Amino acid sequence: MRLLVVGGSGLVGSHLVAEAAARVHAVTGTYRKFPNPGLLPLDLADPDATRQLLAQVRPDWVVHAAGWTWVDGCEGNPVRAYRENCEQPVQLAQLCRELGSRFAYVSTTYVFDGQAGPYRETDQPNPINVYARSKWEAEQQIQSVLGGQGLIPRVICVWGREAQQKNFVYQTLKALSEGRTLRLPADQIGNPTWAGDIAAWLVGLMELGETGVWNLAGDQENATRVQWFCAIRDAARSLGLVPASPAPGYEAISTNDLKQPALRPLHCGARLQKIQARLPRQPRTPGDLSALL
Ligand SMILES: NC(=O)c1ccc[n+]([C@@H]2O[C@H](COP(=O)([O-])OP(=O)(O)OC[C@H]3O[C@@H](n4cnc5c(N)ncnc54)[C@H](OP(=O)(O)O)[C@@H]3O)[C@@H](O)[C@H]2O)c1
Repeated sequence: MRLLVVGGSGLVGSHLVAEAAARVHAVTGTYRKFPNPGLLPLDLADPDATRQLLAQVRPDWVVHAAGWTWVDGCEGNPVRAYRENCEQPVQLAQLCRELGSRFAYVSTTYVFDGQAGPYRETDQPNPINVYARSKWEAEQQIQSVLGGQGLIPRVICVWGREAQQKNFVYQTLKALSEGRTLRLPADQIGNPTWAGDIAAWLVGLMELGETGVWNLAGDQENATRVQWFCAIRDAARSLGLVPASPAPGYEAISTNDLKQPALRPLHCGARLQKIQARLPRQPRTPGDLSALL
């Protein structure tokens, strides 16, 4: 297959590029601000450049692993959130339909309100913040443009090796190294998910020509943020990545105490029956930090 990964410099996109290359697909990845070796520049805000790149690469599949992922930032700037998380990917889907490429859009279990997780793909979304509304609107418009033939992986709590070191594992390791106590929302629940598992499943789904919504996540669908932290902390201490200490390293608080601008859906865990029936796989556990070494 020929694949184009928009957002190839990001956490999910970089794992997708690596996985596709390892499976001997012809993969092109793109970056916007952070050039990685081998990636091509692309800003979806430039429709001419986007059309030109698709015409040049002629991909069988285009994956949108991009957008504006800062949940609290989106709350303060809904115009930008809708432009980058909905309008641009919908335009990309339209271009794919015109040029004959298949299209995958990486979405989120934040499309749910978090009252009744863990969720199946068939449960009814009810987004409660701007970021999530922009993603759910995009899912619906993309399927409308593509006559239901779009592929929509929903992911959650993603971690893994990352050039910018933004994800929760790096935040945890940094705090432990500096002897800082992290304040953790003990009421936020969801599957810690290694980006390499998302990539392996998503490339597999594209190889099979699948369509529709698929939860792609780690197998701990009821993990709290505190449990995730403890798994990382204990692994990091036993590997000598952070100093040994009797201190817990965290203070458990409630999401309300964080006073964040955007509401958080509290239990957005993903059920995995659908993907496990199609592509059985044992996902990496959150304490298996060998993926970072
Ligand atoms: N991380 C999570 O826990 C999580 C959870 C649920 C859903 N998701 C979804 O998964 C997708 C990927 O997330 P991620 O965590 O991998 O994000 P990320 O690390 O922030 O990466 C985003 C990627 O998109 C690129 N990008 C941003 N705006 C662009 C634009 N206008 N045109 C072209 N490229 C653009 C960025 O390029 P530069 O960095 O080079 O500027 C980067 O490569 C997102 O759609 C997100 O909504 C993520």
